[in-house]
Amino acid sequence: MDGPAAAGKGTLARRLAATLGLPYLDTGLLYRAVGRRVLDSGADPRDAAAAEAAARTLAAADLARTDLRVPEVDMAASAVAAVPGVRAALLDFQRAFGAASGAVLDGRDIGTVVFPQAPVKLFVTASPAERARRRWLELQGRGVAAELAQVEAELRARDAQDAARAAAPLKPAADAVLLDTTALDADAALAAAVAVVRGKGW
Ligand code: DC
Repeated sequence: MDGPAAAGKGTLARRLAATLGLPYLDTGLLYRAVGRRVLDSGADPRDAAAAEAAARTLAAADLARTDLRVPEVDMAASAVAAVPGVRAALLDFQRAFGAASGAVLDGRDIGTVVFPQAPVKLFVTASPAERARRRWLELQGRGVAAELAQVEAELRARDAQDAARAAAPLKPAADAVLLDTTALDADAALAAAVAVVRGKGW
């Protein structure tokens, strides 16, 4: 499952995995943990050597941190994700996770690079305004103060950066099914995703 920031992939992928009885991996969390480590070290997330070193030494404890979903880490994750060496360092883990017994993974390049042979590919989108509204509500719920217009501007900037990079850019796989959740609530999005999976014979 791929798609732009705050399209609802996380909730949808987690619920789809539970419905199908498969493990779930939020691959964005890997890039967030790398971005967090680079920020903590005082280096610039665009510094390829620093970002790659952080990715190569990533540990389980880095993924368990509670401060990975804050705005400064959004942009840091997107910056380190443009570094080819970072992506290479994270690839084996993602492939091993899915290879064992099948899995639902969400990210930006799952259908294009990580599992190009995946039997079911979903590209989940929603309008920028709706994605900003959802992210803003989520931030409010966690007590993080933010301006709606600022949230939308940040989402657009991050998507532009993720789509423009040379290494595994954000884009739908040629054989992905597009799922626009702008007008769907979480239950309707899940029903639509399950219908796609069942339609593929799974
Ligand atoms: O899904 P997310 O917003 O938590 O992802 C954070 C950043 O990580 C995103 O802006 C780009 C990067 N990312 C990526 O390049 N490839 C993935 N498979 C997942 C995330």
